[in-house]
Amino acid sequence: MTDRDLMELATEARKNAYAPYSGFRVGAALLTADGRVYTGCNIENAAYTPTNCAERTAFFKAVSEGAREFTAIAVTGGSGEDPAAFCAPCGVCRQVMAEFCDDSFRIVLGNREAIRVYTQKEILPLSFSPKDLEEQA
Ligand code: THU
Repeated sequence: MTDRDLMELATEARKNAYAPYSGFRVGAALLTADGRVYTGCNIENAAYTPTNCAERTAFFKAVSEGAREFTAIAVTGGSGEDPAAFCAPCGVCRQVMAEFCDDSFRIVLGNREAIRVYTQKEILPLSFSPKDLEEQA
C-alpha cells in the first residue's frame, strides 16, 4: 500500500463526510501493521461538541475491531470539492494517535496536487502517552 493508494482511500472516505454545519469535509484512511485499512470521515452534530473527526472515526473503527498496531494514516479535507490546503489532524486526534502509535507512525496529508508526510514525533513532540504511566509506577 503506497502513500498515494492510502490517500485515494481517504479521498473516497471523504465522500461520506457528514458536515452540514461547517461544510468542511474530511476523509481518513488508517493502515494497520498487518496491511488492513480502516477509513473514516468527520461526523458532525447539531449540538456541535459530539462532532467526531475523520481520523478518530478511523481509529475507533479499527480499535473496536481489534486492531492495535498502525503504521500510517492519510488525511484530506477542506471546504471545496478538491481541497487546496493540507488538513492537519487536530490536537485531540494527535493525542489519540499517541495512545496507539509510536514515534515513527506516518501522517500523510494530501491536497489536490501533492502529499506531505510527517511523523508522530514531529506532529506531537513531548507527548504524554501510555509509556509515561508505566514510568511513574
Ligand atoms: N476535522 C476533521 O475531521 N479532522 C481534522 O483533522 C480537522 C477537523 C473536522 C471536524 C469538523 O467536523 C470540521 O472538520 C471542521 O472543524
